[in-house]
Amino acid sequence: MGKNTIRRYRFGNPTDTDAVVLKLPAETGEIPRLKAEPVIDPETGSEKGIRFSFGMDPEDILFGLGETVRGQNKRGHRYTAWNTDEVSHTEDKQSLYASHNLLLIFGPGKLFGIFLDDPGRITWDLGYTRQDQAVIVSENGDLDLYILEGESLTEIAREFRHLTGRSYLPPRWAFGYIQSRWGYASEEEIRQVVGEHRKWHIPLDGICMDIDYMERFRDFTWRKDAFPDMKAFVREMQENHIHLIPIIDAGIARVEGYEPYETGRERGAFCTLEDGSAFEAAVWPGLCCFPDFLNGDAREWFGEQYRPLLEAGIDGFWNDMNEPSLFYTKERLNKAFEKAMEQQKHPEDYEGMWNLKSVFNGVESNPEDYRLFYHRTDDGERIRHDRVHNLYGAQMTRATAGGFRAFDPEHRFLLFSRSSYVGAHRNGGVWMGDNRSWWSHLELAVQMLPNMNLCGFLYCGCDLGGFAGDVTEDLLERFLQLGVFLPLMRNHSALYTRDQEVYRFSTVETMRNTITVRYALIPYLYSEFMKAALTDGMLFRPLAFDYPADPRACRVEDQLMLGGECMIAPVCRQNAWGRYVYLPEDMLMIRFRSASDYDLVSLEKGDHYIELKPEEFPLFVKRGRFIPLGAAAEYTDSVTGDGFRLIGWDAEKTEYALYADDGISATPVYEEHLKILREGFGQ
Ligand code: GLC
Repeated sequence: MGKNTIRRYRFGNPTDTDAVVLKLPAETGEIPRLKAEPVIDPETGSEKGIRFSFGMDPEDILFGLGETVRGQNKRGHRYTAWNTDEVSHTEDKQSLYASHNLLLIFGPGKLFGIFLDDPGRITWDLGYTRQDQAVIVSENGDLDLYILEGESLTEIAREFRHLTGRSYLPPRWAFGYIQSRWGYASEEEIRQVVGEHRKWHIPLDGICMDIDYMERFRDFTWRKDAFPDMKAFVREMQENHIHLIPIIDAGIARVEGYEPYETGRERGAFCTLEDGSAFEAAVWPGLCCFPDFLNGDAREWFGEQYRPLLEAGIDGFWNDMNEPSLFYTKERLNKAFEKAMEQQKHPEDYEGMWNLKSVFNGVESNPEDYRLFYHRTDDGERIRHDRVHNLYGAQMTRATAGGFRAFDPEHRFLLFSRSSYVGAHRNGGVWMGDNRSWWSHLELAVQMLPNMNLCGFLYCGCDLGGFAGDVTEDLLERFLQLGVFLPLMRNHSALYTRDQEVYRFSTVETMRNTITVRYALIPYLYSEFMKAALTDGMLFRPLAFDYPADPRACRVEDQLMLGGECMIAPVCRQNAWGRYVYLPEDMLMIRFRSASDYDLVSLEKGDHYIELKPEEFPLFVKRGRFIPLGAAAEYTDSVTGDGFRLIGWDAEKTEYALYADDGISATPVYEEHLKILREGFGQ
């Protein structure tokens, strides 16, 4: 199937999205693999976008699209690239917070990838209208299309990273357990949460501070009554090996005298309406202006705003509401009120009354509102927001990372964002947004994860326990068992939901034991993460990537390959004390209960029913390999790089390369930090 190639085809006059680092000349010949044709508006007869299509054989499998609903294999649904503050990730949805427009097509004698570098709305009909056809429509019609070909799925994934750049490297402490909750409102409360973790010996490295730490939800401020001396508090926490991780939202409160608003206005850093005045919409702090992240000067200004918090010693942030989420614009809300008042005069019109519901629902993040405002590029060109909508969060991440680099170029920072686009993977990680305390959302994370890795987002995770709704004890336990392997291991929940800190539950000891496994695995997980990032690989892969010739493996939806040695298979069903697992080769199962309590079972290739009590979860190690397992620790500072137990079965490959750097320097060197562990199995 020839060697790896990437071809670029240009349509119209696309905006520079910052997605790609490898600048390839545009091809002029016929596009391989796809049919491309203009979309004609039936009313006006003019072109309104481009349509790409290709036929699919029944066996074809589709991977990609990063953060979206449904399976690892994306076939059989329609998706829309349109970054959305979506509060309910049900399977009928078409858009979540991110747009990752990469798709890999894999079937008998068929292997290629397509990437649409287009930040506007794109629909992906992947066998929805016709099972045997994929139809992709770009509304903008201005884009770069890339066709990727290669020897294997893994090779194409690597090519894609060559095209789009190396993944973001978090500090090593970011692999520690992080506790978060919307509602932590003071130093005292945070101290108490930390204290409870330490009291119960629940490992902990970070606390996320949600909007409640701010003065009236205004970015870059903090409540002086609740955090009288932020610097001293940060230091106190650091002495306790805890990193504070504040949230920053996209909107800047439109309040006279509030410094970020004033300086942003002076710098011309906000998005504008057609007449040049600032666009305003409400988010948490009330009416806000929206930084023009597509403009270099505005990005620099925004990056500078982090300085007071950085100077207080903060070394991690999460960026939110950056689709951007718009609760309402004044105009749209007023129209809804007018409609309601008009309706009040016609109480007998039940249908009109009923429709009021959708009028008010439509006030939030209304597509029309995204057509009201403009960006100004560095070349002075004005672009209407809807044409570049999906870039907003990614460019916020870029602005933040730029601010960190300007403040301290020597060190890594933790940063994860809700919204993203390809390219943002170079500057930060992502979390999967507002999931719910549902069993199906545990499985959804397993399905999203490899596709996010494929698109470059290696540092990611979901809200463990679920964000919205009340978690049950057994669900949190199973979520944590998955979380053991996620780079971002964060327990987060919404205001007014059941308290979700591990120590609130009767099974606190079981949950603690689960988290100890994470700490024992940090040397391994960090090594595999760094190797994946520094060699443009994937940490998590669908089984098809490693066993493309095994049709059974290619259809597995709820297991994942992890690093070079392992496979995971989380339990995602309530009251299931076990599950079926398909082993694509002989593997050793480590059935964990804690870092020091586990049993080892050698299993042959094939289907197995694995018994897993609520406190048990498996990690499978390929026969012939081994992994290093360290000891339990209460924070990453005390995780050492030696004293491992080496666990494997018949390890014929008797070496393991441990990546052992200082975990914080900004420029890690691959070869220099590889430490070889040796094992004498089978010798
Ligand atoms: C958004 C975020 C969520 C956060 C909340 C309050 O819903 O996705 O994580 O807790 O806003 O800031």
